Amino acid sequence: MNKYKRTLVTTALPYANGPVHIGHLAGVYIPADIYTRYLRLKGEDVIMIGGSDEHGVPITIKAKAEGVTPQDIVDRYHKIIKDSMEELGISFDIYSRTTTPLHSETASEFFRHLYDKGEFVEKTSMQLYDEKAGQFLADRYVTGECPHCHNPHAYGDQCEKCGTSLNATDLINPHSAITGNVPVLRETKHWYLPLDKWEKALSHWILDEHKEWKTNVYGQCKSWIDLGLQPRAVSRDLDWGVPVPVEGAEGKVLYVWFDAPIGYISNTKELLPDTWEKYWKDPESRVINFIGKDNIVFHCIVFPAMLMAYGDGYQLPDNVPANEFLNLEGDKISTSRNWAVWLHEYLRDFEGKQDVLRYVLTANAPETKDNDFTWADFQQRNNSELVAILGNFVNRALVLTHKYFGGVVPAAGELTETEKNVYTRLAEIKKQLSDNLDTFHFREALKEAMNIARLGNQYLQETEPWKTVKTGDMARVATIMHTVLQLCGNIAIAFEPFTPFMSDKLASLLNMEPMTWAQLGSDDIVSAGTEISQPELLFEKIEDDTIQAQLDRLARIKEENKVKAWRPEPVQAPTDFDTFMKLDIRVGTVTECERVPKADKLLRFSIDDGTGEPRTIVSGIARYYDPADLVGKQVCFIANFPPRRLKGVDSQGMILSAENADGSLVVVGPTGPVAPGAQVK
Ligand code: MF3
Ligand code: ZN
Repeated sequence: MNKYKRTLVTTALPYANGPVHIGHLAGVYIPADIYTRYLRLKGEDVIMIGGSDEHGVPITIKAKAEGVTPQDIVDRYHKIIKDSMEELGISFDIYSRTTTPLHSETASEFFRHLYDKGEFVEKTSMQLYDEKAGQFLADRYVTGECPHCHNPHAYGDQCEKCGTSLNATDLINPHSAITGNVPVLRETKHWYLPLDKWEKALSHWILDEHKEWKTNVYGQCKSWIDLGLQPRAVSRDLDWGVPVPVEGAEGKVLYVWFDAPIGYISNTKELLPDTWEKYWKDPESRVINFIGKDNIVFHCIVFPAMLMAYGDGYQLPDNVPANEFLNLEGDKISTSRNWAVWLHEYLRDFEGKQDVLRYVLTANAPETKDNDFTWADFQQRNNSELVAILGNFVNRALVLTHKYFGGVVPAAGELTETEKNVYTRLAEIKKQLSDNLDTFHFREALKEAMNIARLGNQYLQETEPWKTVKTGDMARVATIMHTVLQLCGNIAIAFEPFTPFMSDKLASLLNMEPMTWAQLGSDDIVSAGTEISQPELLFEKIEDDTIQAQLDRLARIKEENKVKAWRPEPVQAPTDFDTFMKLDIRVGTVTECERVPKADKLLRFSIDDGTGEPRTIVSGIARYYDPADLVGKQVCFIANFPPRRLKGVDSQGMILSAENADGSLVVVGPTGPVAPGAQVK
C-alpha cells in the first residue's frame, strides 16, 4: 500500500436514462461506500463523489421515444437515482450531475486546453448519416450486425453480446435507430485524442507499476495495450451535450465519454471550491475509481491519457477496483428489457430493509467473475445469516443482560482461557477484516465481520451463562455477559461499512460512544456500568410469500418481453389460387355458444350457415371469450373439413382465428354484414 494523506473515491456516474438497479449497486456503489465508510472510521481524510451522467445518445433516444426533452428525462432519473441511493445509505459527500454550468465550464475548459496545446488530431472522415432524419448517426443511433460475433443487434458504439467496442461504420448492414433507414456516408470533421501517443506511458504505468491491480482489470488493460492503441474521436455530431468550444464546430458536442469522467473533477470542485485541487494534484493524495467492467478501458486508458495530455499535476488513479457483472435469476440485467431489481422499487417493497440488500449484494458481489442474484438466495441469507446468526446473538446478549443485570453492563472479573481465546480470535478477525478491506476484497471482509457473530454464538454455547446462574456464581456470569456485550459492540463497529443502519441501531441500543476502527478488537467498548436499552430485533425473517411476489413480478416481465420480442412468422412457400379455392371458407352467424363440459379450452358453436340446418362447430378458444359475447357475431369457418368428434361433440368444420403474440386467439369475421353461407374468396 502506498503512503498517502488523503483519498478521493470516485464512483462511475450512472446514466440518467433509467433508475439504478442491483447490478449498479453490487458493482460500484456498495463497494465504494464500504471502502469510504471504512476509511472514515479510521479517521482518514476521504471524500466520495458521484453524480448522474446526463449526456449521451441513449438519453436522447429515450426522450424522442417519449416525446419529451432530454432535460426532462435526466431531471426525472437524476432525482430517482439520487434519492434512492441516499435512502440506501450510500454516503456520497456530493452527488451532482453533468448538466450543471460548472461541469460544462470544466469540461469545455479541459477540451480547450488540450486543443490549444495541440493534443488533438483533427480528422475529416465519412460517417453514417440518416437523410430522412437529416442528422448524423452517432453511437447508438445505428444498429447492425457485429463484425466480430455477428450478433444482428449490435450498436454503433458497442456490441453488447461480445462486449467489443465498435465504430458505427464497422457495423454490417447498418440501420438508423431513428427512422429505420439505411444510412449513407457523409463527410464530417472531428477531434481525436491520439491514444497511440500515450501508449508507452500507459503501458509502463499499468503493466509495470500496477501489477497489484485486480487481475480482471489488469488483464483487460493488457489486452487493449497489446492490440495497439488507436486515436479516439472525442466529439460527436449531436445536439445534446457540452458544445465543442472551437470556432466552426456548430452542431458538435463533446463525446459523452470525454465529458463524463471530467465530471469527477467538476464534482470535486463543486464540493470543495477552494481545496479541490489537492485531491487531484497533491502527490500525497490518491484517487480510487470504483466502476463496472464495461468502464475499464475508459478509466484505465482513455481518461488517464486525457489527464496526461492535460498535465498541470493531475494524477492518475491509484487503483481501479472494477467489478464484473451481476445477473438476475440467470439472465443478464437489462434496463431496456426491464430485467432488473430497481433500487427505488426495492426500497418501496422492503421498507426499512436497506441493510439486507447491502448485505446480500456484498456477500454475493461479482468481484472476480460474473455472479447471479436470486431471490431464494436473498431470503436464505437474510433468514439463516442475518437473523439466525447475527440477530439471534445480539438479541440473546441484550435479553440476558436485562434478565441478570437489569440492563446494566456488568464489570468483568478475572478472565479465563475461554475469554482470552475470544479476544485473540477477535484480534485475528480484525486483522483479516482490515487486510481484506484494504485490498478491495469486500466479500471476504464481510465473512470476517460475520465471524464475530459466529464467535459470539460459540462463546455463549460454550459458557452457557443460563446454567451458571443456577449455581449462583454471579461473578462468573458477569464476566461472561461483559464479554458477550463487548462482542456486540465489536459487531456494531465491524459492520458499520457494510450495514450502517443496523450498526447505528446497535450502537444506540448499547449506548456506545461514536465508533472508530481503532476500537475494533477492544475488550472495553461497552464499559461496565453503561445502561443499555430494551432489546429490539435487528433483523426479521422474510416469509415465502414476500419472495414469491418478487418472483411473480419477474415472471410477468418475462411474458411481456416475449410479446415485445414477437415477430410475424416468415411467409410460407408459394402456393396457387386453385389450392386456395379447394378450401371452402364461409361466413356464418353464431346462434348459440357454450362451454363444452369437462374441456376447459373448448366452445361449442351453433352456426346459421344459410342452409336452414344449424351447423355445430367446436373451437379451442374458450380461454379467450365469454361465450355469450359471441352470440350474434359473424365468423369465418372452413365448411369442407370432414366432421371430427371432440369431447363427445361432432364438429363440422373449423372457426378461423388469428393468434396474438402472447398466444391468445381472436376470432376472424367479416367487417360488414354478410348473408350466412357467403363464400370467402
Ligand atoms: N455512465 C457510464 C455508465 O453507466 C459511466 C460513466 S463513468 C464516468 O457506464 F467516468 F464517465 F463518469
Ligand atoms: Zn459482437
